Order: sequence, then C-alpha cells, then structure tokens
Amino acid sequence: MVEPSEVQRGLQDVVALESRICFIDGVRGRLLYDGYDIRDLAARSTFEEVAYLLWYGRLPNRSQLDDLAQRFVQLRTLPEAIDRMLDEFPTTVHPMDVLRTTVSALALFEPDETKPGSSSIGGAQRLTAVLPTILGRFHRRRAGLPALEPRKELSAAAYLLYALLNREPSELEARALDVALILHADHELNASTFAARVTASTLSDLYSAVTSAIGTLKGPLHGGANERVMELLEEIGTVDLVEEVVKGKLSRHERIMGFGHRVYKVEDPRATILREWSRKLGEAKGNLRYFELLKKLEEVVHREKGLYPNVDLYSGSVYALLGIPRDLFTPIFAASRVAGWTAHVLEEYQDLRLIRPTAKYVGATDLRYVPIAERP
Ligand code: CMC
Repeated sequence: MVEPSEVQRGLQDVVALESRICFIDGVRGRLLYDGYDIRDLAARSTFEEVAYLLWYGRLPNRSQLDDLAQRFVQLRTLPEAIDRMLDEFPTTVHPMDVLRTTVSALALFEPDETKPGSSSIGGAQRLTAVLPTILGRFHRRRAGLPALEPRKELSAAAYLLYALLNREPSELEARALDVALILHADHELNASTFAARVTASTLSDLYSAVTSAIGTLKGPLHGGANERVMELLEEIGTVDLVEEVVKGKLSRHERIMGFGHRVYKVEDPRATILREWSRKLGEAKGNLRYFELLKKLEEVVHREKGLYPNVDLYSGSVYALLGIPRDLFTPIFAASRVAGWTAHVLEEYQDLRLIRPTAKYVGATDLRYVPIAERP
C-alpha cells in the first residue's frame, strides 16, 4: 500500500491511470492522438477519421471510414418520444442543460447500453452521431426554423452546421468546423473525461458516463470559457481599449478567459491552429475584428501576466464567424469531445479499477453528541 501523500489540490500532477489515447507534452506544446500529431490531423484528416482513431487506436482504411460515415448517418435519428420531449423544453434554457438531460433520457430508449458495465463502440457511435441532432432539434425550434432532416450526404461537421444554421455550409465553413471538431475530440484526463472515467469505473454505463461528462464540461473553467471570451471581446469593444480592460481585470484578480492551462506551460497547439482559422475565416467573411482584438489581447495578457492562449481563445471567434449563436459553443465542444469521452470509457472497461482517491481529514474529532433540546 502507498503511504498517504500530501494533498495535491485539484489533483494537479497526479498520474491517475495509463492510457494509450492521448499524449500532451505541456512543455513543448505537443498534442498527439494515438501517436499522431494534432497538427497533421488538423491539416489532413476529418472528424470521422479521428473518432475512428480514438475508438480503435488506428487510422481507418477507406472502406472502414466509409462504413463509419454511413453509420453516423443511420444513427442520427432520435426516438419520437425524445423528439416530443425536446419540443416540451423551455426555449430559454442553456443548450448544455438540454444536451445533458436528453442524453440521460435517451438512455431509457437504448436498454442494451445501460446495463451495468455496458459500453460498446456501437453506443459510442450512436452518441457521437446523435448529439448534433439533439442540438439541432432544440435550436431550430427556439429559432423558429423548419424541422431537421437527416441529410445523408453531409459529413458530421456539415450536418452540425446545417442543423444549426438551416443552410448548406460552404466548403470553407464545413472544413473550419471539421478542424474545430478534430481539435476538441480528446485531451487526455481533462475534467470532463475524468468525470466520465470515474463514472465508468463504478461499472456504471456509457450513457451515465457521458451524462456526467457533459455536466462537467459545462463549467466556465472548462468548456464554458469560449463563450466568456466572446463576452469579453464585446465588453472591450475596440483594439485601443484592450490594454485598459485587461489591466483593470488583472488588478481586480479576475481571470482572463481563454488563457492559462493546467498542463501547457507554452501555447496550446490547438490555439495556434485555431488562430489561423480565425484569420482565414475572418478574411473570407470580410470581418477581421475578432482576430485583431484577440491578437491584441494575447499581446497584453502575455506581457502583463505571462499567460499563453488555450484552445478556447480563438474557438469562439471561429464559431461566431460561422454564424453560430454563442450559447451553442460549449455544446459543439461536447459534440466533438464525446468521441474522446467514449473512447476513454471503452478503455476504462478494458482495465477497470474503481477510481476512488482519499481525502486528508481536517475536521474535528471526538465531539460529544448534544441532544437537540440542549443545544444553544
Ligand atoms: N487569467 C488570469 N490569471 C490566471 C489565469 C487567467 N486565465 N489562469 C491562471 N491564472 C493565474 C492564477 O490567478 C494564479 O495566479 P496566482 O498564482 O497569482 O494566484 C496562477 O495563474 C495559477 O492559476 P491556477 O488556477 O492555480 O492554475 P490552474 O492550473 O488551476 O488553472 C485554468 C488552469 C485553465 C483553470 C486557468 O488557467 C483558468 O482559469 N483559465 C481561464 C479559463 C479558461 O480559459 N479555461 C479553458 C481551459 S482550456 C479548455 C478546457 O479545459 O476546456
């Protein structure tokens, strides 16, 4: 037995398990999925290919990739009861809450996936295929758009854009979202993946694990940061005000969203790629305002606090340029990370050990129980 060690707040630097899925070198700013550099994957692969890689540990050949793309199309449809449930939700709620509750409800209709210890690549594919449909159904109803169609010819990224925007995306738009999905698909033991693995380690099931993960991703210190970045840009307004706003925030010890990372001590390689996409899309749309504000923000935050950008700094601007409403940014993160969550759950079941750390007790001991009538 290992002697109880000092408390590592936030489990920082604690090595909790072995995994083949994702490697982060926080000092050199490298990120690998199953051995492949994220820069190569972002330049040359697709989200479907990356999902296959995460689940199977190898790149697919042409027919394996075509099969997976076809499976995604087949699995896009929701049970009618879930459609009806989505139509009853208040339209004013956050889509992350809709996603969490709908994934949990969907489990009731897929009993094979909810037996204790149950998880399969089929379940992983189902969840990855269906998240865009859930978001599309909810968003289209609140936006007064016509009903969603399965659109068999569309890739995962193009389908997600069609579901949210109700129009065919251009090739550039679909590729921009595809790259964003690739970049968000996994990130080792981030908080939401850890939550998924903790749930799976109790021999619960895949849908419960993904429900835990969605609830965890929602927080502004994790997936919710990109929405806050866009709020900050709005608050700042123009490039000449960046300096003043940032200095004010730092003097009040406020966090600047989109900066800093638990693992990266240098620039997050995903931020490097998204910065380029923010510029490319901005040029194509004739709107470089976000890009210019973000570049200045980077310069000031690095000078004043020595912090580097993380993935969330530029992702919001890419989504905003695609015309995606802000409260859908984190749900899009979920629609990508679900590939990683499910890969990790599958891995957890292959080498299962209940995840259960210990706490250092700092409370009182040996107190005398006082009957309620005698308490002051
Ligand atoms: N703005 C201002 N100060 C910061 C920031 C920031 N964004 N990030 C870290 N710091 C400071 C922090 O105040 C502390 O300073 P001091 O030592 O003077 O008190 C020091 O840096 C260390 O911070 P920490 O919170 O102990 O470090 P952490 O490893 O727990 O933080 C983090 C990681 C991501 C929670 C943090 O950097 C942060 O809050 N960033 C803003 C939120 C954000 O962008 N989140 C997205 C993360 S990447 C995508 C994802 O995981 O979903």
